[in-house]
Amino acid sequence: MKRVVFNQKGGVGKSTITCNLAAIAAARGARTLVVDLDPQSNSTRYLLGAAADALEDTVTEFFDQMLNFKFRQKATEDFVHATPFANLFVLPADAALEELQAKLESRYKIYKLKEALDALDFDEIWIDTPPALHFYTRSALIAADTCLIPFDCDEFARRALYTLLDNVAEIRADHNQKLEVEGIIVNQFQSRASLPQQVVQELREEKLPVLEPFLSASVKIKESHQQAKPMIHLDPRHKLTDEFNRLFNTLHAARQPVKQKKRA
Ligand SMILES: Nc1ncnc2c1ncn2[C@@H]1O[C@H](COP(=O)(O)OP(=O)(O)OP(=O)(O)O)[C@@H](O)[C@H]1O
Ligand SMILES: [Mg+2]
Repeated sequence: MKRVVFNQKGGVGKSTITCNLAAIAAARGARTLVVDLDPQSNSTRYLLGAAADALEDTVTEFFDQMLNFKFRQKATEDFVHATPFANLFVLPADAALEELQAKLESRYKIYKLKEALDALDFDEIWIDTPPALHFYTRSALIAADTCLIPFDCDEFARRALYTLLDNVAEIRADHNQKLEVEGIIVNQFQSRASLPQQVVQELREEKLPVLEPFLSASVKIKESHQQAKPMIHLDPRHKLTDEFNRLFNTLHAARQPVKQKKRA
């Protein structure tokens, strides 16, 4: 199962949601990989902490290998790093990823990520993407089975959702027929303010797939980033941890095969 967390808008919670849901999958026993495709490397830092500063064999080298083809290629597994959390691994990013992009695009390497991830042995793969639709994001949408869209209840973001869904539909038509929009994740929801409620209501009226529960805004998430501990490890009883857990359940329940009713 490969999921991409995608929104061209910056700061909507892509990295936070990717790492927290992946951490829950891993804590429940699934062998889980986070793929960080953002040169900002926020997910890498969130999962590895200070160790993220001195990394070799990042996703940059993984892509670079495709441009400078050598007789002795490293295997994709060689770019996978263990995190301090059981069952949770990361294919980390670094800033140098930015520079490679144009070259990769001009040399038609857009299917390489999919090929590499398909050959790995993980129960769940979660891909974090940068806030743009370019080579890395397209590679991720081509590699993934489903797409999750974090949404921050902003009116401009609501309008931008249609362009985003059109982009996903185009990738589906051209490159990845099985790509499915799994749903919109409402993040930083303020239940007491009326505007967010109204924006979410509009999404529902427009028949967009809004997932539940919504994720509350909480300052605890800053501490979680700073300590490099996903919420389930930092504070298992926190309200936001509970919301992440229930959101994870929603995603899983939707994928269970419907049991046939027994005949009376
Ligand atoms: N539920 C939340 N409550 C409070 N703050 C949050 C929440 N989710 C995310 N944030 C904050 O919002 C900011 C952006 O989050 P994050 O980095 O996950 O977004 P992103 O979409 O990955 O950003 P980018 O587009 O730059 O990659 C961070 O400072 C994070 O702490
Ligand atoms: Mg991010």
